[in-house]
Amino acid sequence: MTGRFRTMAWEGDALLLLDQRVLPALESMQRFTEPVGVADAIRTMVVRGAPAIGVAAAFGLVLAVQAARKKGRPWRRSFDEAAVLLAGTRPTAVNLFWAIERMRKAAAGLPDDAAAAHSRLEREAVAIFEEDVAANRSMGAHGAKLLPADSCVLTHCNAGALATAGYGTALGVVRAAAAAGKRIHVFVDETRPFLQGARLTAWELMKDGIPCTLITDGMAGTLFAAKKIDAVVVGADRIAGNGDVANKVGTYGVAVLCKVHKVPFFVAAPLSTIDPKLRTGAEIPIEQRDPSEVTHLMGKRVAPHGVQVYNPAFDVTPARYVSAIVTEKGVLKPPYPGAIRKLFR
Ligand code: MRU
Repeated sequence: MTGRFRTMAWEGDALLLLDQRVLPALESMQRFTEPVGVADAIRTMVVRGAPAIGVAAAFGLVLAVQAARKKGRPWRRSFDEAAVLLAGTRPTAVNLFWAIERMRKAAAGLPDDAAAAHSRLEREAVAIFEEDVAANRSMGAHGAKLLPADSCVLTHCNAGALATAGYGTALGVVRAAAAAGKRIHVFVDETRPFLQGARLTAWELMKDGIPCTLITDGMAGTLFAAKKIDAVVVGADRIAGNGDVANKVGTYGVAVLCKVHKVPFFVAAPLSTIDPKLRTGAEIPIEQRDPSEVTHLMGKRVAPHGVQVYNPAFDVTPARYVSAIVTEKGVLKPPYPGAIRKLFR
């Protein structure tokens, strides 16, 4: 929510989602009144980005109770069924499971009266939405201090307003730095195969008037070699207890470039992205997506029929490559295991 577009909106009886599959060509808001539709929207990437899918799932659960109420069914059964459905949509971003768990906790102990449960759960989902925007603003304030006043920042994927309830994590840091008067130029990795960088990050930054340059993923190395990058800021889908970071595939390569070229590699993520139960990043489930995302570009085949395809949606960057993790509670520095334990104590 930068004032220029809305990633999602709650209408009281329906969830509106900006269809991210058709950006930047079309700004189309889709309306959902059933949890099945929300689950489908998450699976097919109408809505994507770790915090955004968590918030959407929370509203999906409210819609389950609303539907049960209309049909005169016991609300708890619909809620539980929807929770299972929503949890099965995408495996890597922990925010999805975090939001479902938070809604489950809010549901526990509620009366059988569907009207009362409906209004309590709606309040919880709205709180998750509002807290996400507030966390992003806070991350922006903490993270902006890490960026030099006149700098070129590279980002991968889209960790902006589109990936959250509003403002963004990595792009929130960029937005806050720009708002504080820093001159920031963003190099945007196109982010094959789904093109979140080209289609979404470039669009968002241009809407905000933040200077940016789009590159294909393979061009990043040459920019580092030419000393054109002062810092990297990315988001995260899940951070393990030791600070290993799962983010969009290609992030690891960027982190290695940072290490080799002695450029700081910053990760901006809310506490809802940290999964302290996992000891290391090796335990993070990595989503494998449809081969057609790699063999086709904008619906047109670009690879031979029958070619084998490897299409993991995420990779894991070891904690030792991460210069700092920006959270809404402040900036974590290595060693991460202790810093993360302290945060959750
Ligand atoms: O597959 P996506 O588009 O959902 O992947 C999104 C990312 O990898 C983002 O960088 C991450 O969720 C952080 S969003 C604030």
